[in-house]
Amino acid sequence: MKKSALLFTTELPRPADLGEELLLIHDEILPRKSKTFKKWMAQFPLRYPVKAGESLKSVQNFPEHITKIVKLCEGASSRRLTVVVAGGGSVGDFGGFVASILKRGVRLVHMPSTWLSAIDSAHGGKTALNVGSAKNQIGTFYPADKIVLSRSLLMAQPDARAFEGFGELLKIALIAGGPLWRDLSKEYEVNATVLWKYLSSAINAKYKVVAKDPEEKSGHRHILNLGHTLGHVLETQYELPHGVAINYGLEFALRFSLHKKIITPAEYEKLMLSPVMGYLLSPVRDELLQTKESVLREFRKQLLSDKKKTSSEVLRFVFLKKPGQCVVREVSVDDILVEVCRQKEDELNG
Ligand SMILES: NC(=O)c1ccc[n+]([C@@H]2O[C@H](COP(=O)([O-])OP(=O)(O)OC[C@H]3O[C@@H](n4cnc5c(N)ncnc54)[C@H](O)[C@@H]3O)[C@@H](O)[C@H]2O)c1
Ligand SMILES: [Zn+2]
Repeated sequence: MKKSALLFTTELPRPADLGEELLLIHDEILPRKSKTFKKWMAQFPLRYPVKAGESLKSVQNFPEHITKIVKLCEGASSRRLTVVVAGGGSVGDFGGFVASILKRGVRLVHMPSTWLSAIDSAHGGKTALNVGSAKNQIGTFYPADKIVLSRSLLMAQPDARAFEGFGELLKIALIAGGPLWRDLSKEYEVNATVLWKYLSSAINAKYKVVAKDPEEKSGHRHILNLGHTLGHVLETQYELPHGVAINYGLEFALRFSLHKKIITPAEYEKLMLSPVMGYLLSPVRDELLQTKESVLREFRKQLLSDKKKTSSEVLRFVFLKKPGQCVVREVSVDDILVEVCRQKEDELNG
């Protein structure tokens, strides 16, 4: 898989530096939030604004989008056309997919506008659409030619978005271990400044994993799903932002790792007592872990739609042995549901 060129910039890039004929697919919120963006985007003759979110990724809505986009690009040459995608992860997954099939594939530039997309989803080449409530069932591997990380665009986000980006940053720091985890673990607060500070190391850490298994063939890339098995269930069940659900999913995975004796109690305690973990632990998570039969039935349905299943009721779960060392084990859907109940009980017993 080709490596995307990374461009760290303080401001928005010159359109002429992004390609010859440009189609800008952007989150419609961006020009409303920033006058600078509004002025910048006026330089693109071809523009396609979209409303961010999971319905943008719905396969049902796709024919209408792609028909409009093809019409918009009627006069453009497939050799010279570049799709520039400005937005968060949903816009990136959608726009990346469009670039991968439009005229059988055109150049792609990602300009992530959320922390989650800047840290994680813009990198690694995965594009995705949802089928019904089942997330990311359709997609392509299509790495961007260039990824622009604009400080001014990212810093303009509301503070709440930092918590969403934090999940993916923490995930990659736990997977990578080493200096990234050592430094991040000492942070007491995670805000925009902290996220920008770790952005480049987090991206490099993700590329290291992806480079060993670009198209998820050997299985190594699977460790990037740390925190995502239960995370995806909570995301769908409660319609949570992806990053928030991943924060809760990470805590679940760490506690499951302790219960399975994959992480030692001493290592677990050291990890949980590090300053940055104070930011992760949330009482909200405990309310979401439900043991009601009707909710567990929904959880089961979501787990069964997990793409990482190895057979009808077994999936590969990513555990943590220590920062820098993940362990992937097969567990049954029932094992996970039992663990949900065990953690809930643990919580109730204080
Ligand atoms: N392809 C991958 O490898 C990968 C990895 C992780 C997540 N994802 C996908 O990413 C999506 C979640 O990412 P996300 O949270 O960035 O999604 P998003 O695109 O839905 O953005 C979240 C919200 O932030 C708003 N927003 C975007 N930029 C903003 C800005 N600068 N200022 C203010 N508000 C802004 C959006 O309008 C939206 O309301 C999910 O669909 C998930 O499946 C993909
Ligand atoms: Zn994720």
